[in-house]
Amino acid sequence: MKLLARLAIVGVLLLSGCRASESGNQAQPQAAEAAIAPILTTPDAVDTHSFARPLEARVTHVALDLTVDFDARRLAGTAILDIDRRPDAKEIVLDDAGLEIQSVSDGSKHPLPFKVGVKDPNLGSPLTIGLQPDTRRLIITYKSAPDAGALLWLTPDQTAGKKMPFLFSQGEAIENRSWIPTQDSPGIRQTWEAAIHVPAGMTVVMSAPRVEQPITQGGESVFNFRMDHSVASYMIAIGVGDLAFKSLGPRTGVWAEPVTLDAAARELADTEKMVAAAEKLYGPYRWGRYDVLVLPPSFPYGGQENPNMTFLTPTFIAGDKSLVSLVAHELAHSWSGNLATNAVWNDFWLNEGMTTYAEGRIVEELYGKKAAEEHAALSIDAMNKAVADAGGPRAPDTRLHLDLKGRHPDEGLSDISYEKGAEFLRTIESIVGRDRFDAWLKGWFNRHAFQPVTSAIFLADIRANLVKGDKALEDKLMLDRWVYQPGIPPNMARPPATTFAEQDKAEAAFAAGGATPSNWAQWNTAERLRFLNRLPRKLPKSRLAALQSAFDLNGASNMEIRFAWLDLAVSNRYDPALPSLEQFLTSQGRGKFVKPLIEALAKDPSWGRPIAKRIYARARPLYHPLVTRDLDKLKL
Ligand code: BES
Ligand code: ZN
Repeated sequence: MKLLARLAIVGVLLLSGCRASESGNQAQPQAAEAAIAPILTTPDAVDTHSFARPLEARVTHVALDLTVDFDARRLAGTAILDIDRRPDAKEIVLDDAGLEIQSVSDGSKHPLPFKVGVKDPNLGSPLTIGLQPDTRRLIITYKSAPDAGALLWLTPDQTAGKKMPFLFSQGEAIENRSWIPTQDSPGIRQTWEAAIHVPAGMTVVMSAPRVEQPITQGGESVFNFRMDHSVASYMIAIGVGDLAFKSLGPRTGVWAEPVTLDAAARELADTEKMVAAAEKLYGPYRWGRYDVLVLPPSFPYGGQENPNMTFLTPTFIAGDKSLVSLVAHELAHSWSGNLATNAVWNDFWLNEGMTTYAEGRIVEELYGKKAAEEHAALSIDAMNKAVADAGGPRAPDTRLHLDLKGRHPDEGLSDISYEKGAEFLRTIESIVGRDRFDAWLKGWFNRHAFQPVTSAIFLADIRANLVKGDKALEDKLMLDRWVYQPGIPPNMARPPATTFAEQDKAEAAFAAGGATPSNWAQWNTAERLRFLNRLPRKLPKSRLAALQSAFDLNGASNMEIRFAWLDLAVSNRYDPALPSLEQFLTSQGRGKFVKPLIEALAKDPSWGRPIAKRIYARARPLYHPLVTRDLDKLKL
């Protein structure tokens, strides 16, 4: 009923939208709702990672009605798409990765012709649907494939609570085309709604507000969601399992498996304060509630900024809030990323670099200047490592504005986008002063809320609203050099040289054969990480044994520390770390942790590879397709 009423309203809007596009001769269709951002038309905003041709016909609203089938590992049902099109458009192209499509019809159930095109290994296939002159709505009946790239289906045994199966999705960058037949491009915003059917007793959360209380009948529960703000398709997400909720504040709360809920809520105690800090910096939080979902250990990322419902790895739970900058990061995406969204993956830094900068500011607001300086110094270490990994300061992939054509967009997922991006903004801040920079940044989010953005739009905006023709300032900032040239410009702002002085001194002494650091117990997580990550990659085994016996790093409960240690252990074929390594790799599936370790093992034919083979065979069922996709290439 509700759905039909809504569709009727959208129908009226579509008609008026269509009249407008017939009267004008714009290169693109009018948005069905004035609120939905138009498609950018410049060449740098053409998405090479989607088959869609949105200037001819685009999706404006998606309505899903899906049943979750844990036995078949499929989502099955219908997607009703509202489209906006040029009057002369003959077809609409959607993105598809392995969907099993039963039928396509228009809004009055008249069948429409459709064709699934040749499969590209990175992108999947175009799904081309023939349009009649009056087609404004598509009804697609389909199922996702059991190996859909966005979805991870866990058996009860693979969850923390071991009681019920679990399903979750990861849409970014281009995975959602494996369960939603729509235009899967970050520059094509869509509103959406969903009705999700699950076995009674299970709970569904999505990246949108719930519309009403779930209805349970005949062994099945139905959950309804609706997102009235237009979003990029990668921001549609689902989690299904044995989930419980705990409030964290008036606008914030946490969902998790019951056995994880209390520890998660304790770790997340500062969430409401973080929202307030972020609003002070960037203007009102525009999405209503900010809840987080703590996933089973298989979640492939640290976090994912799904609107209204950040998804988090349970590995951030350290017991002392020392890893909650992850929450600051995902929250900051509510502005950078979810409000102002990279139009194409080449400009991924506009999502991640701006967010990493904002993360640092939220950390400063909550935990003080020293913590923020340490955060920034680690950021610079990570950036330098990323430059080296990319092939040095002349390598093209060290540019902020990337060229990912012909490659999978996840290849843009390097610390160049994150850390060089953040350093760029810190540099601007230090040159123009915090007050001026903050005023510009707040304005940026207001001017580009719910819009796609590009590097060129960023540069034009900062010139118009911050530089304002000041020639001397323009020269100092080196804006184009930061965005379009490889390497790190010479004007980069740096945290004070004293930031990690104590750790660096201790590291040098220890590497030269001296004692283990005497202040370790007083050091925070950032300080310990600086020490471990700065150690030479090759160390005598006796040095590793000294660290292990002083600090029991094999038993570290802080997952970042544990990873830093295991990374060092693997580089040195340090056998006493193997039980810890095996436990680490078979108890969580965060790509950032498991990929480098397994890859490093696999590269060492005599010592590491047999270990990798044995562990991967055990660990693989726990890992998300996004992680196994890369690790399977090692042919273990
Ligand atoms: N949106 C990203 C994760 C992502 C990027 C997924 C690209 C798929 C493609 C998320 O906000 C993120 O950056 N997560 C980081 C944590 C952060 C604190 C650096 C992660 O998962 O490690
Ligand atoms: Zn991010």
